[in-house]
Amino acid sequence: MLIPRPATYSPAAGRRVLTAATTVHAPAEIADLLRELLSPATGLPLPDAPDAELVFGLDGAAADELGDEGYRLTVDGSGVRATAYTLDGLRWAVQALRQLLPPQICGTQPVSGVEWSLPYADITDRPRYPWRGVLIDVGRWHQPVSWLRTVVDLLALHRMNTLHLHLTEDQGWRFEVKRYPLLTEVGAWRSESPVGHENIKQADRTPHGGWYTQDELRELVAYAARRGVTIVPEIDVPGHTTAAIAAYPELGDDPAARLATGTRWGIYRTVLNCDDATVTFCKHVLDEVVDVFPAAYVHLGGDEVPPGEWAANPVARARMAQLGLTDPEDLLGWWITELADHLRGHGRRVVVWDELVKRGAPADAVIMAWRDETKVAAALEAGHDVIATPQTHLYLDHYESDQPGEPLGIGGHSPLDKVYGYDPEPAEAPDGGNRVVGVQGNLWGEYLPTVGRAAYNLLPRLSAVAEAGWGTRSDYPDFRERLDVMLRRFDALGVAYRRPEPLDQAGPDA
Ligand code: ACM
Repeated sequence: MLIPRPATYSPAAGRRVLTAATTVHAPAEIADLLRELLSPATGLPLPDAPDAELVFGLDGAAADELGDEGYRLTVDGSGVRATAYTLDGLRWAVQALRQLLPPQICGTQPVSGVEWSLPYADITDRPRYPWRGVLIDVGRWHQPVSWLRTVVDLLALHRMNTLHLHLTEDQGWRFEVKRYPLLTEVGAWRSESPVGHENIKQADRTPHGGWYTQDELRELVAYAARRGVTIVPEIDVPGHTTAAIAAYPELGDDPAARLATGTRWGIYRTVLNCDDATVTFCKHVLDEVVDVFPAAYVHLGGDEVPPGEWAANPVARARMAQLGLTDPEDLLGWWITELADHLRGHGRRVVVWDELVKRGAPADAVIMAWRDETKVAAALEAGHDVIATPQTHLYLDHYESDQPGEPLGIGGHSPLDKVYGYDPEPAEAPDGGNRVVGVQGNLWGEYLPTVGRAAYNLLPRLSAVAEAGWGTRSDYPDFRERLDVMLRRFDALGVAYRRPEPLDQAGPDA
């Protein structure tokens, strides 16, 4: 009944019951995690003891068998034993153990009347892809840190390891930069927001804003790390930067123009100018980003960058001449290369959207292929590592049903069975060293102003993304059966979700 489905799962007859006498022997981080995740609902203290019933240990010889995230978990008459090559592997064993218990285990308050028993089983498991993520867009609507912690909890529950946090947008800059305080004092606020669909062009005449302090984000990073989840920040440049330019007009096309933080959805023509000082500004921002986020990757965006301002701007034209470029769109590659070089100096590697494939992506950039499935193949062909997140299947802001009654959304149609059916490996992937390294669902925020709306779009499609990323998909009916248990875990966590249609009403992709 696990999601994602383990690579091998051998059930056996018998059950083990956790009681007040149950003890733990594990590395300190794992013992703490077991108590953090199992004690609230059960009320069991799970103290340490050398000859414990739950034994979690590292196995230095298991690298080949289990890799960086695999684990073995055995429940039998002698107790519960988990081994892994890494602490991350043990973290996933903890989550697997949690899913073997009744779904009420996910509750945050003591639950009475439940027998905390788990079936005898032997699991050997490891994921197919090293990056299994979700994008949360806090640029369009600022969301509370408590929601981001819930997303981390949900990711960890699904043995997903990456929260891609989209922190900057035309409509809001959410990352505190100590050197440039106006980024949040000005850029985190807008005067109003669209009402209804963007096409209708009505506004609510209500200011919206908010940002995260560096300390809040550091706490979130630590909370996620304890659960095996890495937070990858995105500072989207050189497009999607209207809020930054509203704060610091010298970053934009015309420093004398007074832009306001964006109040409409859609693609803005506003982009960063190509001045040396603007590049330096961004490097200073990134210095603070890497100080807060220890992740090996920083996402630099690079999507949807209209070349109109650059085509007419004397500084941009001089830059083109200096670089020998004839197409202003190629300035995108220059921008990203400058910042990728800087981040390399910090020991970080960049992720960028697939527009960069044709515009001079640095060779070591990981490409996030979003526009459609062909972009996965194109990025592989160009020699990059690729994270597959095609909007045709994995945009979780798209409608989950085409039936009337769905809450307003941006468009699209990605029902649960379609998400579940996504296979990231294109049929004709070239066999070089480059490869698909990950799968990610993207929850863009324009039409998700509240936590409740975000949760409705995220769940349960996140469960389908998790299984695509773990790479153990079975048939859809089997998934749906396991999903019914997952929904009860969501109930216990107290998080909203969209109730999926009964299996006999699922669409033709099932
Ligand atoms: C994107 O959806 N603009 C990456």
